[in-house]
This record gives sequence, structure tokens and C-alpha cells, in this order.
Amino acid sequence: MSQNTDFFVIKALEDGVNVIGLTRGSDTKFHHSEKLDKGEIMIAQFTEHTSAVKVRGKAVIQTSHGEITNN
Ligand code: TRP
Repeated sequence: MSQNTDFFVIKALEDGVNVIGLTRGSDTKFHHSEKLDKGEIMIAQFTEHTSAVKVRGKAVIQTSHGEITNN
């Protein structure tokens, strides 16, 4: 896989925001669930193991494509 140096940032706007990593490849499965409480920030990358991320709950998500808030 080519090197991915981009990071994305997720800031929880409420308690109990879930950041769920989904596996890369033909089998798309949850492989990690990280719970963030209000004000907590997660800085992460897409990797060899992670090709998609699902965010549940109120959070600000910043990526190189822009910033989005889900309510
Ligand atoms: N072990 C995972 C990986 O290297 C860690 C990880 C990276 C992750 N990015 C993520 C987990 C995004 C959840 C969401 O792929």
C-alpha cells in the first residue's frame, strides 16, 4: 500500500462518541471501537488495516477534505 501520511481529527462534542474502524479488503468488518467523552480528541490515520471509519454521536471531524460536524 502506498504511504498515507494524512491524519484526521475527531473531537467529541458529547460523551460516548464512538469511532469505529472498519477493515480494509474484501471483508469489511468492525475491528476497533474507541469511545470518546466530551472534549476528547482522537487523531488517526487510514492504514493497511483500516480503510473506513464510522463516527456515531456528536463530533467535529477534520480531514484534508474539510471539516464536518455531525449532530
Ligand atoms: N490498529 C489500527 C490500524 O493500524 C489502529 C487504527 C488506525 C484505527 N486508524 C484507526 C482504529 C481509525 C480506529 C479508527 O489500522
